[in-house]
Amino acid sequence: MDRHPGGSELTKRLLSLSPLAPCRMVDLGAGKGESLALLRRLGCEAVGIDLCPGPGVLAGDFLHPPFAPGSFGAALSQCAFYVSGDQAGAFCSAHRLLAPGGTLYVADVFFGPEEGFVDLAAQAGFRVLACEDHTAAWREYYLRLVWEGRAGGFCRPHPRGGCGYFLMACKKE
Ligand SMILES: C[S@@+](CC[C@H](N)C(=O)[O-])C[C@H]1O[C@@H](n2cnc3c(N)ncnc32)[C@H](O)[C@@H]1O
Repeated sequence: MDRHPGGSELTKRLLSLSPLAPCRMVDLGAGKGESLALLRRLGCEAVGIDLCPGPGVLAGDFLHPPFAPGSFGAALSQCAFYVSGDQAGAFCSAHRLLAPGGTLYVADVFFGPEEGFVDLAAQAGFRVLACEDHTAAWREYYLRLVWEGRAGGFCRPHPRGGCGYFLMACKKE
């Protein structure tokens, strides 16, 4: 698993931020679907959606998802909201997809301080349960991408400040 910092260990850390009861769960930007197997082992009926889906992942845009509002008890997204080009819109889309009481587990790049990332979730209507700074894992991951020539123009200077990587669990009340 090499499409987000920290691999499956950081996925497990993210899911530990709030208790996850078996439920219908969606992985937004699931990529090759590597986290779906973990979610299923945890007892969830997990589906994934991605613009460039791997096997077993649905093709689709999580900003305009092909699911009814309130369809899921929980949602996961790793390293995908920022990449979509509309990070705030992605939080709003996740909020719509969750049933009341549902939890979003999100790990993402954010330009600016941790409070700014927390604000994005709050502005979408979430109550933030926990947020952790894992920028060190992001640096290690990004340096490897640079070394392998796969980094693109990801971390150009940004007016809001430096590039951080945060893990967050938040609830739709
Ligand atoms: C860095 S990869 C992470 C993949 C996966 N979450 C993982 O951790 O292995 C980002 C993924 O987000 C997907 N993505 C970006 N914007 C999307 C959107 N609007 N709708 C669906 N998928 C999107 C990309 O196609 C890509 O597979």
